[in-house]
Amino acid sequence: MRFDDTFAKTPFQLNQSIKINLPKNISVSIKREDLIHPFVSGNKFRKLKYNLLQAKQENTSTLLTFGGAYSNHIAAVAFAGKEQGFKTIGIIRGEELVNKIQENPTLKFAQECGMDFEFVTRQEYRLKEELEFITSLKKKWTDFYLIPEGGTNALAIKGCQEILTDIDTEFDYVCCAVGTGGTISGLINSALPHQKVLGFPALKGDFLQDEICTFVNSKHWELIHDYHFGGYGKVTPELISFINDFYKETKIPLDPIYTAKMVVGVLDLIQNNYFPENSNILLIHTGGLQGVAGMNTKLKNKKLPLIQIHD
Ligand SMILES: Cc1ncc(COP(=O)(O)O)c(C=O)c1O
Repeated sequence: MRFDDTFAKTPFQLNQSIKINLPKNISVSIKREDLIHPFVSGNKFRKLKYNLLQAKQENTSTLLTFGGAYSNHIAAVAFAGKEQGFKTIGIIRGEELVNKIQENPTLKFAQECGMDFEFVTRQEYRLKEELEFITSLKKKWTDFYLIPEGGTNALAIKGCQEILTDIDTEFDYVCCAVGTGGTISGLINSALPHQKVLGFPALKGDFLQDEICTFVNSKHWELIHDYHFGGYGKVTPELISFINDFYKETKIPLDPIYTAKMVVGVLDLIQNNYFPENSNILLIHTGGLQGVAGMNTKLKNKKLPLIQIHD
């Protein structure tokens, strides 16, 4: 499927009801943003939409962005860039990955889409927002349109504000996974006054609260920090079996880094009486399924059970 076609029309909307036994007459549905596009799915489509339009308006021929070894964002920028006629550059965290492209499904895919890489040390990577570092990249790579790590900037948030639409007014709670805070910021800005937005950070630490506050105009939201499963990119055997059982029961695939942790969190909060009786909860499936292959490679190397989200 060409990304241009997806890009031009209003994305597909499906709120799928999750048919599992829940207490207190609570109901849960999931917005299948993962089905928007095979490679630019979920929040990646939302975040890139206005950024790519802006890059075109600025007549830029190159997109440069940042990401880790298995980044959904890197894969999405590489594919969308190729489809939209941009050259793409990925600044990748971890210089040791330079010789491991072929064994890393995300980097291999991005390279096949034509992305050029620069592998940097973790120390250098931390400078990614510093003017001096960006100026040095400009000297090396000529001019480019910069998309920040995770794709989060004001235009990305504008795109994420389009996730909720008229079909979502019936929900009392809107829940999503949180990485850099862009997706939840868009949801908070477009939620209705009777809706509370809950974010489930995939990372340890409480720095995101202040970051999100700079983007949003409402206080009707909360971050729930108890479901990161040890931190960013960390998984446990329990999380993997949850993903596999959830798929068997619902046929809905979840990714191990973001969406599965959020779904575990919501179901656990339901059991712990966080939500009042008759609550109608909407989960946002933000995609990320391209990362499953990379996680399965790691699990296989450790001789652990794999994620199975295909029939
Ligand atoms: C699949 C998926 N879900 C959720 C998120 C979190 O989004 P954000 O970084 O906007 O908080 C990400 C990361 O960008 C992601 O790749």
